[in-house]
Amino acid sequence: MTIATETCEDLAIDAHRLWSDLMALADIGADSVGGVTRPALSPADRQARQFLVDRMRTAGLDVRIDAALNVIGTSATSHPVTQQRAIIGSHLDTVPGGGRFDGALGVICGLECARTLREHGVALPWNLEVISFCDEEGAHHAGTFGSRAMIGSLRSDEIHQEGEQGRPSFVRHLQQAGGDPAGIAGARRSADEFAFFLEVHIEQGRVLEAEAVDIGAVTAIAGIERVEVTVFGEAAHAGTTPMSMRQDALVAAAPLFTLLPQWAAEQNPEMVATIGRVALSPGAVNVVPGQCRFIVELRSRDAEDMRAVLERLEGHAAGTTGWRIEPVYRKPPAALSPRIQDSIQQAARQEGLSVRSLPSGAGHDAASFAPHVPSGMIFVPCRNGISHRPEESITRQQAANGCQVLLRTLLLLAQKARP
Ligand code: HGY
Ligand code: MN
Ligand code: MN
Repeated sequence: MTIATETCEDLAIDAHRLWSDLMALADIGADSVGGVTRPALSPADRQARQFLVDRMRTAGLDVRIDAALNVIGTSATSHPVTQQRAIIGSHLDTVPGGGRFDGALGVICGLECARTLREHGVALPWNLEVISFCDEEGAHHAGTFGSRAMIGSLRSDEIHQEGEQGRPSFVRHLQQAGGDPAGIAGARRSADEFAFFLEVHIEQGRVLEAEAVDIGAVTAIAGIERVEVTVFGEAAHAGTTPMSMRQDALVAAAPLFTLLPQWAAEQNPEMVATIGRVALSPGAVNVVPGQCRFIVELRSRDAEDMRAVLERLEGHAAGTTGWRIEPVYRKPPAALSPRIQDSIQQAARQEGLSVRSLPSGAGHDAASFAPHVPSGMIFVPCRNGISHRPEESITRQQAANGCQVLLRTLLLLAQKARP
């Protein structure tokens, strides 16, 4: 057993094994159009968790599933310098009709690094944990559920929140899946347990590909504000109600659909504003809408800017009768560790890869850990920046690059951790 130091420069992951595990995982929940549908707690999600448990056990990791259904594979070290643990994490759940790599890449890269270190007898200064977090995509509510349950930032009421279109609450769905919601609080761990958190992920944007850069060292993860707006009108017969006598909720709401992007652009050109779901009721084509409900989502690395846009929304609503605005959830922007970013940059260069810093517009489990534990993210390019769609695609080489930089980053951090 050698002690992990920078002298392991010829240590390399098994790129073929990495890719074949990614492809085997992609078959779980594969849909008819080449995408993957593995929403949290679905049978496909359960099957993917079992796939990971089996692969972790074959690799010699100690495996447990916590009360929040996070899968935790531990590779104990023979030469610890601290009781703290190094965490490599991401998620196996996907959006409906999602891609093969969002989340899965990070989990399998973690597994591959643990395997490689064990096969070559390289001892890190910490026990290494590879974790697949439950419900990152928010199939039930706010997303990053499992990582927030572990780090202790889950709001107790949110697990009881029923979703749209009859989606069960996390508690009800967990009970149906045979889990024990009462134990969720038991998934919480102290931040002191963790030396650092690392996540490999596809960029889900176009920057790296457009600049032909191999690796992204992520600087920050955008914050997310979501509010639900309900505009009340009066349902009426579409044929017999003159235009002058209508209180059409959709017509009342409509100006906001163009004002919101305008306010966001005026406040901060990098902010994104989305209305991804609009529900009309009663929702019949021959009835004037009596109610229009929609979710406003803002993302930015500046919390104040998002607050300012929400204030304009509240002002707009205050000036109009029949509007209600309710908070859905708020995730603050997360700054990632400069020290870990430096190690990622150094690791990429040592591997002969080009690298640049960039922020993440997408949310990630790393954002749950970042306020409490030194955290870093390694991005690889994805084709045309496409994600959350079956066309999501990376090459074998890009997958291998991300994994190899993860391994090299671990070794650099290890070398710095030893006295
Ligand atoms: O919504 C997100 O940014 C992430 O993909 N869950
Ligand atoms: Mn993801
Ligand atoms: Mn995603």
